[in-house]
Amino acid sequence: MAMLRVTNRRLGRAGALALALALGDAAWAQIPIQPRMGEPLPGLTPAELLRFQAGKAVFNTPLAAADGLGPIFNDKSCAGCHGSPTVGGSSTRTVTMFAKTAPAFDDLLYLGGPLLQSQSLSEVCKEVVPVEADLVFLRATPICFGAGLVEAIDEQDLFYLEQFPPPGVSGVARMVQAVENPLGPPLVGKYGWKADQPTVMSWSAGPSRNELGLTNRFLSTENAPNGNVSLLALCDTVADPEDGPDAFGFDRIDRFADFMRFLAPPPQTPKSGMTGEAIFNSVGCASCHVSSFTTGAAASPALSGQAIKPYGDYLLHDMGSLGDNFGGAALAHEMMTRALWGMSQREAFLHDGRATGGTFAQDVHTAIQQHDGEAVGARVSYNALTPADKSLLVAFLASLGRAEFDYENDNDVDEFDWFFLQYTGWFGGPAGAPGAPALTPDQDGAVADIDQDGDFDLRDWGHLQRAFTGQ
Ligand code: HEC
Ligand code: HEC
Repeated sequence: MAMLRVTNRRLGRAGALALALALGDAAWAQIPIQPRMGEPLPGLTPAELLRFQAGKAVFNTPLAAADGLGPIFNDKSCAGCHGSPTVGGSSTRTVTMFAKTAPAFDDLLYLGGPLLQSQSLSEVCKEVVPVEADLVFLRATPICFGAGLVEAIDEQDLFYLEQFPPPGVSGVARMVQAVENPLGPPLVGKYGWKADQPTVMSWSAGPSRNELGLTNRFLSTENAPNGNVSLLALCDTVADPEDGPDAFGFDRIDRFADFMRFLAPPPQTPKSGMTGEAIFNSVGCASCHVSSFTTGAAASPALSGQAIKPYGDYLLHDMGSLGDNFGGAALAHEMMTRALWGMSQREAFLHDGRATGGTFAQDVHTAIQQHDGEAVGARVSYNALTPADKSLLVAFLASLGRAEFDYENDNDVDEFDWFFLQYTGWFGGPAGAPGAPALTPDQDGAVADIDQDGDFDLRDWGHLQRAFTGQ
């Protein structure tokens, strides 16, 4: 340890960079650094990158009433809810849903259901939960990272999982009509807690109208407060559809879709080899939280044929008591397996965000205890693990969303990460230095072993320079 400190002090940042570069080993210099959450996909064309950036700006910009906001809405921008740890992410924000379950299920469309718009441009037009509703529940905000890659997952892979399920589970692909292609073939729903929508554009046009109140070319009818059309006439001054082309011919819904489609998937560090993942597999979590897919053909090469690790199967499962009781096309107890990528930086888990408020390990434990129905076996097996094995499983889940060198796991690589990495004791100097500490993927220093060769040496350090984001 003492020797390492001396090495580090003597090297300093500039020295390390010079030394790393002097090694001149082109092969290792090219190990790609995984994008952090909120960054664009690697390999976008310059035109796609421009569309990503323009989309991000629109996603992040609050609408004004004159743009078509409201008259009833839940927030003024997408990022108002999808903003943590950065634009395109999630948050602890929830929305309220209501429906009627007896005598028969009814999503109360004619009373403004099933989504409550809790804000309004004027007090007169406020929407409230109607007395007819006997089911009121919350919905938590998921992340949008990697949304384009999810769209590009080949449906055949999901049909295969549906047809040949792992032992003990039986997922169902929900077939949904894309709003942008109402006469086309139905597609597998891959977004939303109930697999409600099949494409990025569907889940761009939807929240534009339903969360912001922005009617658009696919959803051109405004939500009336509790279904009251005469109130709507009183409060809605902008003609429908309110969305329309900007100077470059893109509607807002196109901008939102571009941004989400070109968002990189969340990073995972270490990329593989954690004992906790083997435990995750052995207790049956991976039966639903399927680790990997290779995307099919997509409009952009950056989205086609990409190996991704979302840890989800995009199928509906009977989750027993964890179901939200919201019936209809997806049954009352059916929920779509939530992809777990990026979860280390979410602050609330499950469809209503009920697993929240504790440490990451506590919230994960709570989320698992709520797993019921088809997931009972996995829960029981998890509960039978030793405390040490539970910790290893949690450590694996904490790697989902962690960027390389992000020791603090807060989506940047700043002076603090640098400081910690310098003093953890894992730094071993030049590659192959005698006595350098050996690292396994389970040890905290593994966040710095970018070439995954079992140590944190100068080769890795060279990448730290590139990954550094500053304060
Ligand atoms: C008031 C908060 C709020 C606002 C504003 C909001 N969302 Fe969401 N978003 C949610 C919630 C809650 C869900 C989950 C809804 C569900 O599954 O029923 C969600 C789900 C999504 C999903 C599905 C993600 C997945 O993997 O399942 C996408 C994509 C999305 N929103 C995009 C947008 C866009 C684009 C906008 C702006 C036009 C937007 N959202 C505005 C709260 C919000
Ligand atoms: C039968 C399928 C199934 C199995 C097995 C399963 N899960 Fe899940 N998991 C789900 C579904 C469905 C959800 C979404 C639950 C909801 O709607 O609240 C979920 C949600 C989660 C969440 C919350 C994610 C979020 O974004 O809020 C975590 C964490 C999680 N599962 C971890 C695990 C772990 C760990 C195991 C193994 C012990 C496991 N799951 C086993 C289906 C499953």
